[in-house]
Amino acid sequence: MCGIVGYVGKQSASPVLLEGLKRLEYRGYDSAGLALWEKGGFEVYKKTGRVEVVGQLVTKAKPASNMGISHTRWATHGGVTDANAHPHVSFDGKLALVHNGVIENFATLKRELSSKGIEFKSETDTEVLVNLIAYLYKSAIDEGSERDSATLLTAMRAALAQVEGTYGIGLICTDLPDQLFGARKGSPLVIGIGRKENFLASDIAAFAGRTQDVVYMHDNEVVHLRADDFTVTTIQDAAVAPVISHIDWEVENSELGSFKHYMLKEIFEQPTALENAMRGRFSQDGSTAQFGGLNLDARELRQVDRILFLGCGTAWHACLVAEYLIEKYARIPVEVEYASEFRYRNAPMFRNTLVFVVSQSGETIDTLEAQREAKRKGFRVLGITNVVSSTIARENDGGIYQHSGPEIGVASTKAFISQIHIAGMLALYLGRMRDMSFSEGGEIVKALKTVPGMVAQILTMADQIEAIARKYKDYEDFLFLGRQLMFPIALEGALKLKEISYIHAEGYPAAEMKHGPIALISPKCPTLAFAHKGEIFKKSLSNIQEIKARKGPVIAITNAGKEFPDGLADDVIHIPECHDIAMATLSVIPVQLLSYYIAVLRGCDVDKPRNLAKSVTVE
Ligand code: F6R
Repeated sequence: MCGIVGYVGKQSASPVLLEGLKRLEYRGYDSAGLALWEKGGFEVYKKTGRVEVVGQLVTKAKPASNMGISHTRWATHGGVTDANAHPHVSFDGKLALVHNGVIENFATLKRELSSKGIEFKSETDTEVLVNLIAYLYKSAIDEGSERDSATLLTAMRAALAQVEGTYGIGLICTDLPDQLFGARKGSPLVIGIGRKENFLASDIAAFAGRTQDVVYMHDNEVVHLRADDFTVTTIQDAAVAPVISHIDWEVENSELGSFKHYMLKEIFEQPTALENAMRGRFSQDGSTAQFGGLNLDARELRQVDRILFLGCGTAWHACLVAEYLIEKYARIPVEVEYASEFRYRNAPMFRNTLVFVVSQSGETIDTLEAQREAKRKGFRVLGITNVVSSTIARENDGGIYQHSGPEIGVASTKAFISQIHIAGMLALYLGRMRDMSFSEGGEIVKALKTVPGMVAQILTMADQIEAIARKYKDYEDFLFLGRQLMFPIALEGALKLKEISYIHAEGYPAAEMKHGPIALISPKCPTLAFAHKGEIFKKSLSNIQEIKARKGPVIAITNAGKEFPDGLADDVIHIPECHDIAMATLSVIPVQLLSYYIAVLRGCDVDKPRNLAKSVTVE
C-alpha cells in the first residue's frame, strides 16, 4: 500500500504529481503530500485526508518547480497525522523521501541515530530511513566527498544495506537540482520514460497518458533519473541493463464517466470483463478452453495430480470457487490456502502439485511471497492476474491474464467475476484432458459463452435490488448462507457488505448454521440465503424455514423461478437458471449490487472504504 510518484522534466511538477497521486489513491488515502525541489531547499505540502486536500494547498501556492516527489499514505507506523504524512525531510533539511513499505528494524536504527543527536519529528519508519541516508551523506561530505550524485548513491546504498523490510522509495536532495533517485525491495516501483522527462511511481497508472515506455524495477535495484536520462544499478552497485516495455494503456478506461462510483461502473462492466476473459480462449472445435500462457504442454498437465490455489481476500474466495469447479469437472484434488498462511506454514506438498496464485493487482505481498516460497521449493507456479507485468505475473512460470481492465474501486467486483469465470474455463480445460467427453465439453463451452448476456440481464434488476437495500440498510448484522458452490459466494457477499458499509456480516455454509451461528438469528439479524435448483434445493429451503421460525428476516437469491415457495422469504431475487459452471458468476451480481446500494444509502465512501487500500503491499 501507499503510492509514490516522482517527476523530473520540463513541465511544472505539481500538476503531474497530483494527477499521478489521484490515480494511486487506491493504494491508500490516509494522507497525501508533495516535496518540490526549489533552489536552496524544498517546498513541502502535506496533510491528512485525500489528495484533493493537499491539491488545494498546492494550487493556492502555484509552485513552479520542475521536479518533485509525492505520496499517498496507508498508515503503518504512526497514526494518521500531518506530521506522519510523507514526504519526510531529513534532520539537516537536505533530503526528502517518500516510501512504500515497512522498515522492520526501524526501532534499532532510530536508537542509533538518536544517540548521535538526531531528532525525529514523526513516528514513522520512513523518517528513520531518510535520516540514515542523510547522516551517511553528510559524513561522506564532512570527510571530503563531493556534493554529487555518486556520494548520494553511495549513502543510499549503505543505508539500504542496513535496512530490514520492504521499500519502494523516491528521494530528492537540495544539492542535486533536476535529479531524482529511487530504490526497490519488496514494494513495486516502475520508471516511466518520457521525452525530456522521466517518472517514477508505484504503478504505471500514475503516468498513464504521459508515456507508454516503462521499466519495471526489480528488487535490490536503485535508479538515478534526470530529465533526459536514467541509470539503473543494483544495491551492490553493479550495472543493470534496463528492459523497456511498451505498454498499451487506455486512459479512458480508468475514468468514471457517468457513474457515481467506480464500484458501480465496474459492476456494470462485468459483461465486458467476461467477454475479455473468454476472447480467443476456446478451441476451434468448440469442445474445450485453451490458454496461451501456461507454458505447460498437455502431457505435463496430465501428470498434475494435485492443485494448490493461493490468494487473499476476494481472490481467496475465487480460489474456493476454482476448487469446487476443478474437483467437479476435472476430478483433480484441489487445496486452497490463504497465501499469508502458506508462506510461513511450511506445508508438506505432494510431488506433482501445480500451484496457482490468484491476484487482481499482482502485487499483494502475501501472495507474491507465497509464490516465491512455492517456487523455492521447486513447484511450478502459474498465476491468474489482472495487472499485466505486475510483479507476480513477471515472477511466475506462466499463467492467465484476466483482461478485466483497470479496477479502481477498492472493493473487487469485475476482477472477481473474471477470476471465477476463468476458473470454470480451467476446469473445462483440465477436465477435457481427463474424463470429460467431447459433448460435455461442448455443452460447457456453450454455457460459458451465454454468461455475459445473463449477467447483463441481472444488471437490469439494479432498481429492484436498490429497493431491497432501502429495507435493510439500517441493520447492523447480517448472515450470508450458501451451500457448496454458493459457500464462497456467501463469503464474498459478507466481505463486500462489511468492507464498504461497515455492517458486521458473516458467511457460512448453510448447514453449519445449526452448529453455532443460529444463535445470532433474530428479527435484528437478516440472512441472505442462496437457494438454487439442484440436489440441495430442498435442504436450502429447510435452512430458510429454520431462520423464519426464529423470526429472522430473509433475502433469498434463487434460480428456481416459480419452484421457490411463495412467502417463504421476505424478499426474493430471481436470477436466470444456468449451467452449474456459471452459477457462482451469476449469483455474485445481486450481492455486489445489494452491498453497493446499502453502503451508498448509509452515506459510506464506497470507492475508498475506511482503513482499506486496494493493493496490499505490506504484510
Ligand atoms: C476485497 C478485496 C481484497 C482483495 C485482496 C487481494 O474486495 O478487493 O480482499 O481481493 O486484497 O488482492 P489481489 O487480488 O490484488 O491480490
